[in-house]
Amino acid sequence: MSKGKSIWLLGERGMLGRQIAVELQRRGLAFLASDREVDIADFEALKFFSRGKTISWIINCAAYTAVDHAETDREGAFRVNARGAENLARLAAGLGARLVHFSTDYVFDGAARRPYGERDEPRPLSQYGASKWQGEKLLAANWPAAFIFRVSWLYGVFGGNFVNTMLRLFAEKDAVRVVNDQFGSPTYARGLARNIVRLVGSDSARFGLYHYCDSGVISWHDFAAAIMERALEHNLLAKKISLIAIPTADFPTVAVRPAYAALDNRKVVSELGFEVRDWRANLNDFFAEKIQRASVPS
Ligand SMILES: NC(=O)c1ccc[n+]([C@@H]2O[C@H](COP(=O)([O-])OP(=O)(O)OC[C@H]3O[C@@H](n4cnc5c(N)ncnc54)[C@H](OP(=O)(O)O)[C@@H]3O)[C@@H](O)[C@H]2O)c1
Repeated sequence: MSKGKSIWLLGERGMLGRQIAVELQRRGLAFLASDREVDIADFEALKFFSRGKTISWIINCAAYTAVDHAETDREGAFRVNARGAENLARLAAGLGARLVHFSTDYVFDGAARRPYGERDEPRPLSQYGASKWQGEKLLAANWPAAFIFRVSWLYGVFGGNFVNTMLRLFAEKDAVRVVNDQFGSPTYARGLARNIVRLVGSDSARFGLYHYCDSGVISWHDFAAAIMERALEHNLLAKKISLIAIPTADFPTVAVRPAYAALDNRKVVSELGFEVRDWRANLNDFFAEKIQRASVPS
């Protein structure tokens, strides 16, 4: 391990995990990595993987993220998101390792009309949100040397997310319907990954619960319009298509989403010195990153 640190990244093949792996490599920080093959819900599997290794930081990006599926698979969601988080806290406690964990804006019910702060009481509307909240509580109860970051509307170049889905739909269809009565703040995964890797690199001990997202509150429809504008500018889309604003009632999903999910990101700035940027600036960076990746032969 370089620079005296020994890092274990879990969920390395997920959207955020891949981005954090890229940032760790960029900063020359060596790390161990695992995904499904080390089941976080299985404490013995975690112990077995860590045996004989020196681990000073655990970054957990592993999670059950199938929000709609969780409604009919409550047990599966709680197994990973609640018991998995508890297991990692117990493991970190045994190793004396610092822990970074991620949660979600879906712990809130969306009734607020101003960004949610860390002191606001969760009231999840979905099984996914409930499982993530339970995970937060179990993690905090079992190991105080932990950072929990609630993030909202995560997107990035890797994996399935709203931005990649919109780009695909814009290319396939003449019209796309997008809800305009759900509001929140996007989170660009690379921006988050950079802040997390800086935090780990600095060996911070300012543990606690934090809200993280890009600045600005928008609707999914606003977000889709901005994505289309940039896709046209960068010639990633041949022609403008029709974007139809619809109410949530016209786009039913199995799990209920909060109507208002914006997070107040001031604490990560004041306590941790994180760099947070306006969502528009980060969306520009996303397109630059996407184009740059497409130009590099794999
Ligand atoms: N995506 C969002 O919009 C969003 C918003 C707010 C918060 N978050 C939170 O941010 C974190 C990262 O999300 P993400 O979007 O990067 O998730 P993701 O892409 O679904 O990645 C999660 C990874 O964990 C793996 N995994 C699932 N169950 C596991 C288990 N039992 N043991 C070990 N690994 C397991 C998954 O494998 P499979 O792919 O094979 O299942 C996947 O590779 C999560 O905590 C999520 O709850 C996400």
